[in-house]
Amino acid sequence: MTIQWFPGHMAKARREVTEKLKLIDIVYELVDARVPLSSRNPMIDEIISNKPRIVLLNKADMADEAMTKEWLQYFELKGVCALAIDAQKGVGLKQIVQLSKQLLHDKFAKMKAKGIKPRAIRALIVGIPNVGKSTLINRLAKKNIAKTGDRPGITKAQSWIKVGKELELLDTPGILWPKFEDQTVGLKLAATGAIKDEILNLQDIAVFTLRHLINEYPERLKERYGFQDFSEDIVDIFDHIGKKRGCLMGGGYIDYDKTAELVIRELRTMKLGRISFEHPKDVTEAPLSQQSLE
Ligand code: G4P
Repeated sequence: MTIQWFPGHMAKARREVTEKLKLIDIVYELVDARVPLSSRNPMIDEIISNKPRIVLLNKADMADEAMTKEWLQYFELKGVCALAIDAQKGVGLKQIVQLSKQLLHDKFAKMKAKGIKPRAIRALIVGIPNVGKSTLINRLAKKNIAKTGDRPGITKAQSWIKVGKELELLDTPGILWPKFEDQTVGLKLAATGAIKDEILNLQDIAVFTLRHLINEYPERLKERYGFQDFSEDIVDIFDHIGKKRGCLMGGGYIDYDKTAELVIRELRTMKLGRISFEHPKDVTEAPLSQQSLE
């Protein structure tokens, strides 16, 4: 898979985030709770370095609850602060401020001891496109100020958004790119809607999704599409869903694109329930900073 803009944009995004880091006390690293590994930028630990950080597992409302709990335990074991949130409904956001205060207690105590006037905590949200950065900023700010959509290349003066008295957010989040060359990462990101459907083949995304559902959530699939059992052959599975849901073309043949689209749409609109695509056991046992996503 070749993405033309990858190297140039990656370097630029990295430079921009590095510049912003100079202005802030803490980083909120937003990941998708359904794919907490694949939705991380592979160089994030290196970029953030030793800045205090909270990993926010966003879209937790769409992820398998039990799996999200395991991810929170995983991060805790690694000594990384993590919270599960739903930026759209505003669930879990109060804890962000509380945890930030705890993490920065010593730094602020030292500043006070040196006679530096107390100020609000300054934070930066970083994450890959579509992970919910603007939604979170808007929620925290309680009004619609952050623009949705990412436009690499457009820079403007930094300004701050007040979140109560204790927190200030940089109004533009740090946009980082996921690791696109890896096929499985790409499929997971496409299935969860983080990358545009045109980048990968729709049927490939649907096949990947269906295989994952057969392995991890077979009952959901049976219930939704009326399977008794699953055939070994993925074409049979497509045929069954296509027939059942009327995804047909002339002559009564199954329209595979339509069927693929239906499965992906139903996954993304949660008709198949809360589905996670990654488990902490998928992590190779390297330090968090050197994790392999292959
Ligand atoms: P970005 O700035 O990181 O690029 O992401 P953005 O906030 O634009 O969010 C991307 C999509 O994810 C939006 O949906 C947004 O509503 C949705 N989203 C963000 N946080 C959550 C969450 O915690 N739970 C759920 N379920 N969805 C979330 P969209 O379809 O692109 O737009 P719209 O439906 O909001 O119009």
